Amino acid sequence: MEVGPNPRKLSCSHFLIITMLVITAPDEQFTRVGVQILDRKDGSFIVRYRMYASYKNLKIDIKVKDKHVAKSPYILKGPVYHENCDCPREDSTAWLEDMSCPQAIPQIQRDLAHFPSIDPDKIAKEIPQRFGQRQSLCHYTIKENKIYIKTHGEHVGFRIFMDAILLSLTRKVKMPDVEFFVNLGDWPLEKKKSTQNLHPIFSWCGSTESKDIVMPTYDLTDSVLETMGRVSLDMMSVQANTGPPWEDKNTTAVWRGRDSRKERLELVKLSRKHPDIIDAAFTNFFFFKHDESLYGPIVKHISFFDFFKYKYQINIDGTVAAYRLPYLLAGNSVVLKQDSIYYEHFYNELQPWKHYIPFKSDLSDLLDKLQWAKDHDEEAKNIAKSGQEFARNNLMGDQILCYYFKLFQEYASLQVSEPKIRDGMEKVEQPDDDLFPCTCHRKTAKDEL
Ligand SMILES: *[C@@H]1O[C@H](CO)[C@@H](O)[C@H](O)[C@H]1NC(C)=O
Repeated sequence: MEVGPNPRKLSCSHFLIITMLVITAPDEQFTRVGVQILDRKDGSFIVRYRMYASYKNLKIDIKVKDKHVAKSPYILKGPVYHENCDCPREDSTAWLEDMSCPQAIPQIQRDLAHFPSIDPDKIAKEIPQRFGQRQSLCHYTIKENKIYIKTHGEHVGFRIFMDAILLSLTRKVKMPDVEFFVNLGDWPLEKKKSTQNLHPIFSWCGSTESKDIVMPTYDLTDSVLETMGRVSLDMMSVQANTGPPWEDKNTTAVWRGRDSRKERLELVKLSRKHPDIIDAAFTNFFFFKHDESLYGPIVKHISFFDFFKYKYQINIDGTVAAYRLPYLLAGNSVVLKQDSIYYEHFYNELQPWKHYIPFKSDLSDLLDKLQWAKDHDEEAKNIAKSGQEFARNNLMGDQILCYYFKLFQEYASLQVSEPKIRDGMEKVEQPDDDLFPCTCHRKTAKDEL
């Protein structure tokens, strides 16, 4: 729920708003709901809550000086289920509507255009043969809203992220029967030039030189599922921690990271040559030989939110795309983004000079672009603002859930044979929630029938 934007009317009342937002379950003695109020410092607030139990109804009071604001009290007619409640909605069309999911997502159309049809029997055989033990792959089948998996390759730890989003989706909505392969590695895999006999592979990172089907990154997805829990940096928390206003930001460009790509080494060298223009340093050395005379010492991590003390954020590829871009965009600094063959699920909707300032992949014009930004402060500020708007409008949790669901739905519609539970697959179980078990009225009703 967003309150505002109505900055002037509510001026000086931040504290009052904070003290007067209450969420209760009218039918219960206790309400186990965690509430956070995030002040975006532009006159708008995000109020978010995480429930630890399910309730019949929730009532939300928002008051300033004892008076209800806008249409407060808001009643959420339930039942309102908590995240771990396994209570999928049968009617996925209604779910998509309630979630305000977009009708079509351009990146999904582009990715699936390479696959006029998908034959589960064929890919179940061919993909393991082709990529087999050399790559880290997960073979999933979702059947009657239950998830089955078989892993291929040695390093399959990252499957927890994929399991988590699939489990979360199947708790919320009935998923189509679908069979697919997820690449757990960094690099996209389907590099065939011709369009003959392409294999559909889901990856967290796409590239202009491959035909993998992109999904929101595990990092962004995890921050959605674990929001107000294990994860502290997410697309909402970042909005309340964007540092000083534009005018008061430090005009040295900033970057921190590890040495996962040659251009990053170049950036740090550039910074050491022009320390007044760029402050770039390594927090870790792993891939290359650490020559301290060239790259300086390893420095301590700075908190992500501290990046926003700086006006100019440099986004440069790591192994593949740098997965911090969503959070950088959500701040109120301007992003300078390296041209790159790699992209996340939303990059193709971003426009250079509108949402970010582009620079060449070899960094040859980075200093010029920084100078441009300094000479065109108002334009740079507007780019920062558009980038932020983009993040607020396209990269929030509900949109990530929409993206995944639509992706599986449209992929499933291309299948020309039945998805099957294959030999060697095991079931991925929903986590036990002993502490706050949930009664799903949808399931109960069905059982009674
Ligand atoms: C801005 O940041 C740079 C690099 O981190 C630092 O050296 C400089 O002192 C800062 N400037 C101000 C005005 O704080």
